[in-house]
Amino acid sequence: MEIFLDTADINAIREANSWGILSGVTTNPTLVAKAGHKDFKSAVREICKIVNGPISAEVLSLKAEEMIREAEKLSKIHKNVIIKIPMCEEGLKAIKALSKKGIKTNCTLVFSANQALLAAIAGADYVSPFVGRLDDIGNDGMKLVAEIVQIYRNYGFKTKIIVASVRHPMHVIEAALLGADIATVPFEVLKKMVSHAKTSEGIKRFMDDAKKSKQKI
Ligand code: E4P
Repeated sequence: MEIFLDTADINAIREANSWGILSGVTTNPTLVAKAGHKDFKSAVREICKIVNGPISAEVLSLKAEEMIREAEKLSKIHKNVIIKIPMCEEGLKAIKALSKKGIKTNCTLVFSANQALLAAIAGADYVSPFVGRLDDIGNDGMKLVAEIVQIYRNYGFKTKIIVASVRHPMHVIEAALLGADIATVPFEVLKKMVSHAKTSEGIKRFMDDAKKSKQKI
């Protein structure tokens, strides 16, 4: 299982990458706005310099032809750029065309197993089911991930599953137990994955005892 960071915040990306556990980054227009980037392409270029792995950057058009043009521009930034395309009829057309051109795609805003099936058939390299947003409306986001894992396994689809819209560490554990390929996590959730009250308590006790008994290395 791989961990991606779900942010466009350069400082958070730099910090998480320094921990040695990051395999990629996902962004979306909301995250880019939140990070306050004036120039989206420069931000993507900067992220690619920090993390040596797939970096998802989303198109802004809703017509296939325009999505393809934007995808071509974004993919020229760096070989690791993955084009995020929203699930819709025009999006499927764009995914198919881009896959023929060898441009990698991440089909985003996936909320049903049928959408994930179509994304894989169209040739998406990644699919992003949004578990948190499904939970928000009283559905079971992880049930969707389980269905996609099973369907892709049944037919040997190579499309990788990125569990997205992660809200808390349990989402990541459940994604891992189900065999999802990737979880893309906000920095706050990643920090919670590292910490445990008993670990902090244990570190404090070891440090105190080492100090009291004047241990040195
Ligand atoms: C990642 O690919 C998605 O854009 C992101 O996880 C959405 O998360 P949200 O539902 O918290 O906005």
